[in-house]
Amino acid sequence: MKDAAPETIYLKDYTPFGWQVSDVHLTFRLAPKSTRVISKIHFAPNPEAPAQEFFLHGEDLKLIRATIDGVEVTPEVTPEGLRCAVPDGPFLWEAEVEIAPEDNTALEGLYMSSGMYCTQCEAEGFRKITYYPDRPDVMSVFSVRIEGDLPVLLSNGNSVDRGEGWAEWHDPWPKPAYLFALVAGDLVNFPDRFTTRSGKEVKLNIWVRPGDEGKCAFGMEALKTSMKWDEDAYGREYDLDVFNIVAVDDFNMGAMENKGLNIFNSSCVLASPETSTDGNFERIEAIIAHEYFHNWTGNRITCRDWFQLCLKEGLTVFRDQQFTADVRSAPVARIENVAQLRARQFPEDQGPLSHPVRPESFQEINNFYTATVYEKGAEVIGMLKTLVGDEAYATALNLYFDRHDGDAATIEDWLKVFEDATGRDLTQFKRWYSQAGTPRVEVTEDWADGTYALTFKQHTPPTPGQEVKEPQVIPMAVGLLNPNGDEVVPTRVLEITEAEQTFTFDGLASRPVPSINRGFSAPVVLDRASSREERAFLLAHDTDPFNRWEASRLLARESLIAMICEDAGPDEAWLDGLERLLRDRDLDPAYRAMMMGTPTESELAQVLFERGHTPDPDAIHAAKEVLAQVKAERWADLLPGLAAEGTVDAPFAPDAEQSGKRALGAAVLALTSRLDGGKAARAQFASADNMTLQLSALAQIIRVGEDAEALAAFEDQWRHDRLVMDKWFGLQVGATAPENVVPRAEALTRHADFDWKNPNRFRAVMGALAMNHAGFHRKDGSGYRLLTDWLIKLDDLNPQTTARMTSAFQTWKRYDAERQALMRAELERLQAKPKLSRDTGEMVARILG
Ligand code: PHE
Ligand code: ZN
Repeated sequence: MKDAAPETIYLKDYTPFGWQVSDVHLTFRLAPKSTRVISKIHFAPNPEAPAQEFFLHGEDLKLIRATIDGVEVTPEVTPEGLRCAVPDGPFLWEAEVEIAPEDNTALEGLYMSSGMYCTQCEAEGFRKITYYPDRPDVMSVFSVRIEGDLPVLLSNGNSVDRGEGWAEWHDPWPKPAYLFALVAGDLVNFPDRFTTRSGKEVKLNIWVRPGDEGKCAFGMEALKTSMKWDEDAYGREYDLDVFNIVAVDDFNMGAMENKGLNIFNSSCVLASPETSTDGNFERIEAIIAHEYFHNWTGNRITCRDWFQLCLKEGLTVFRDQQFTADVRSAPVARIENVAQLRARQFPEDQGPLSHPVRPESFQEINNFYTATVYEKGAEVIGMLKTLVGDEAYATALNLYFDRHDGDAATIEDWLKVFEDATGRDLTQFKRWYSQAGTPRVEVTEDWADGTYALTFKQHTPPTPGQEVKEPQVIPMAVGLLNPNGDEVVPTRVLEITEAEQTFTFDGLASRPVPSINRGFSAPVVLDRASSREERAFLLAHDTDPFNRWEASRLLARESLIAMICEDAGPDEAWLDGLERLLRDRDLDPAYRAMMMGTPTESELAQVLFERGHTPDPDAIHAAKEVLAQVKAERWADLLPGLAAEGTVDAPFAPDAEQSGKRALGAAVLALTSRLDGGKAARAQFASADNMTLQLSALAQIIRVGEDAEALAAFEDQWRHDRLVMDKWFGLQVGATAPENVVPRAEALTRHADFDWKNPNRFRAVMGALAMNHAGFHRKDGSGYRLLTDWLIKLDDLNPQTTARMTSAFQTWKRYDAERQALMRAELERLQAKPKLSRDTGEMVARILG
């Protein structure tokens, strides 16, 4: 039996809700199987809305009773909500419903995690708590009373009063229901305080399970740094008496910006040197900042509807990226962001899931919390800032906050403040929000009589539902270098608006070498036939740190492609150039560590596909192995010195300087292990006193092969720590040789601690399987099969996480006919599952195309 086709929602159909909500009072009587939620809501007709029937969202609720102005009513209840006849004027709606948080495995609405109650309401989870107009343009003031026999009872806003077994909260800032939160449990807090620049005292708390208090200090520092940064950089102050953060173990995403009560996946807030890697620390710092910054970009100014998601997410990602650039190394942060964009957003934008930064339709909004909305959304804001300049950006943002504070706004509102602040017409720029796909920019050049000309031709390939694309505004940062390595034309931003456009530079003494798209000023793919010599020249001389790295990346990529397609050996000139750079002690160790990286196997597969080759995952993997072996042997003399530079003598600090050194050390260890059979890695593993060193050593031990002893020791040491055990599960699948990946993942699913209902644990194994390119794409289809078996299993419990993980198949059309057939068969098997969720159903249908 197939259910009726799910409904598609369109941006063009937006209609305001027929009523306004002035205030909401909620009472929760907590019980695992039978929580009662009593709501009192004041509705008044919305003068700006067309006449409509009164409909409140509600899912999986047991309606006990409902009254209007005190008189009992019997609404018509459907699986999506209820309809009811209501008075013409204002009225008071009261309802009592029953829900079962303990049975809520989807982790949306009110659910239980390790014995505590918590909520997740974005995007449409509030409707699983009570009947309500669950849409972001309905903003209201919430008062909450919680009754439950638990020591800690939290909700949004300020604490009003509390006693034995109850607590009352009031949030003075009108908000949409998706920002509602409630937490109740046996928690302990890690307290601190912050004084805002106008002198207001704010209490800060990080609430955790007893035993995790020792992992809060770093997150707390990050919070205070973020609060200060938002005051300095954006003039934004915090606006409540208290800011609470709670760590929960079961969470579908990273974290959630509920007003005054952020809820975090424990992996995104808990940290200690013994249990967290440098990468974890950096990520935690960025996520704390991100959620905090949402207080202004998301909460004070929210979204009119879910099509405007990038309004809050693109901007907040942009802000957290600025923050990281400020508190750490800006060039390293930029390279990391672009590497992420290319690894996650480009495949999405270049495959069947491609959608505009502001989508125009969806079936399930949960499926649009994507790299495109978040990361490309942030890039679009970066381009806007580049185009208007820093000062105008600041003016426009101030205008945005002034004009739209308290609003549920749109991308049109956002662009209008820039138009008003700068006098610019952003009609064409807006295409970045409406056109999907990664633009490709072909660059050609001309040189005659001291004049150098660069010609750009832009073209965006068709994407699902969008055959024809119009030219976009592309801010292209360009610098020119003299053949002797000096910069003759410093960075200048060329504004490309036409399909084809030429820019000239006069009065040059000799033909320059161009450095194009500096700092990755636009999220495009450059198609430019440049020589190896020119790339090697830029690797040696470019003053733009991003493009210097980019030169190395392209040399590495072309070398690997030649190794795969032409049986060539690694590019010697590149390796020499890279070696010179690695020997340059003036360069930041973190930067040198990034220079040692090579393109991912998935990226190589994409490039081969674009060039008309059928990517062979085994051949790609083999080429990377050969290259690493060649590097190791060639640099045998260089490595010990680099290892010394990558060693930290001071007590552990998770800062940019130390983590850069350790990153260099890890890159070196990955090569050394190819020479000594893992000896150095085993020594490092034995002596490591922090997780960064312990894990980078374990990765090499696994890669080399004899890992049973180390894995057992690690498990013994960390069995009690869920977050560390996630690493143990994930690394075994991630670092294993391709032929062992599937058997290993399969064996791990039978491990007693494979708690697959926990999204972190599920992702640790299944995410690592999907990310291990050659392992996942085994020719026998075993990788596809194993993942699908588990997606089928998880879909009944947790549609959101299942749906996200189907994107492992989004690149299926790159591969050979046999693999395509195998992947199609698995996708169809998933599609045929009885009671497939709307989330997963939409994803599979889009991927199949
Ligand atoms: N809004 C959250 C963020 O980006 C992400 C999120 C979305 C969390 C949906 C949970 C559910 O910060
Ligand atoms: Zn966000």
